[in-house]
Amino acid sequence: MVETPSPAAPLRDKRVVLGVSGSIAAYKAFEIARRLEDCGAVVDVALTPNADRFAPAFTFRNLVSGDVAVDMWATDVISELHVEMGRRADAFVVAPASATTLAKLAQGIGDSMLTLTALATTAPIAVAPAMDARMYANAAVQQNVEKLRARGVLVAGPARGRLASGREGLGRMVEPVEVVGATRALIGRHAGDLRSKHVVVTAGGTREAIDPVRFVGNHSTGKMGFAVAEAARDRGAAVTLITTQEPPPGMFGVVIRRVTSAAEMKAAVDERVAGTDALVMAAAVADYRPVEAAEQKIKKSGSAPTIALEETADIVAGVEGKLVKVGFAAETEDLVANARKKVEAKGLDFIVANDVSEADANSGFGTETNQVTVLDRDGGSEQLPLLHKYDVALRILDRIAERLPS
Ligand code: PMT
Repeated sequence: MVETPSPAAPLRDKRVVLGVSGSIAAYKAFEIARRLEDCGAVVDVALTPNADRFAPAFTFRNLVSGDVAVDMWATDVISELHVEMGRRADAFVVAPASATTLAKLAQGIGDSMLTLTALATTAPIAVAPAMDARMYANAAVQQNVEKLRARGVLVAGPARGRLASGREGLGRMVEPVEVVGATRALIGRHAGDLRSKHVVVTAGGTREAIDPVRFVGNHSTGKMGFAVAEAARDRGAAVTLITTQEPPPGMFGVVIRRVTSAAEMKAAVDERVAGTDALVMAAAVADYRPVEAAEQKIKKSGSAPTIALEETADIVAGVEGKLVKVGFAAETEDLVANARKKVEAKGLDFIVANDVSEADANSGFGTETNQVTVLDRDGGSEQLPLLHKYDVALRILDRIAERLPS
């Protein structure tokens, strides 16, 4: 049996300070801390005294590999720990951020380990507000949020939903997985090699209507395209994801455009591609669609209907400009020879050829991993080992980065 490779840790070698302030959502910071560590980060936690009552420092000490600090006067805390935590941070993320903590951050008040560390750091900062909807709508809170935004702080959320009071409204902290996505985006935008670049990615299989309930489609789940979008976001790019499938949670920062058919995908690509640095067509786009979609469900009549098909327009072949164009080739036979023809025919910089025959259950549609051969326009080729789709995405982005002006 082939061992499934795990994905590269997107926050490897990164140090994140998680600031936790007093809110009922503080219990979710346990999950944020755990998820950040799972992404490879060393997490330090700075709690306000109020946060310590909602989510005790003791629990964080069992979850993270960094320091956990709450009391500025504790004798076991090294002096100047806030300076040390701030100095070594790659990102400072306050989640949940209460109204009081937002106000203190906006004003530059340093009266707790959290607010002192915020003052002591030059790392990029993100906040995930959490409070009652009326509090969030309050002019004072709005002004503080705007002040932080104007200073370059990334504001993640809040989301609309059920609040601690039981009422619905805008004030709920975004989910832990989104806070982690925001942290990855924040670090990428600050230090990633693709910051200031714009990448358009397509994902999923298109559906071409036969009638209101049936379609011509394929087995693409979107996983390969999602991995490219996520990896490009992690490396700092502004990413537009044009997809037929619902992306998984955690895509914070990625602009998502849902489409269904090849024609809709083409319109979305054409609209978004101007000024873009790279286009990665991971979507499995229908080559043929029914000439006409029946207005009502086709009834069983005793004789099978004949469905006339016509060719769809080739999306990637029609894109012009100075951008890096990357295609995928899904083949069931003669992988390299068939993929090679598409590089030329579609005007690609390179193509990522993957075998989608049933023979290899680790590669192609719906799998976590993919085994691909990359074929360049100039005739070069590289066969990659079986990799997690996130790592295939990183290899693709390495090649794109090489082709872009720095
Ligand atoms: O989504 P997953 O389940 O993770 O599966 C991933 C994948 C197998 C779908 C993906 O890795 C992949 O191979 N995608 C391309 C599938 C495909 O449509 O291949 P193709 O050989 O038919 O097309 C070649 C290229 O032209 C593709 O980049 C395609 O997006 C593009 N194309 C195709 C038709 C068309 N009308 N317009 C296009 O731009």
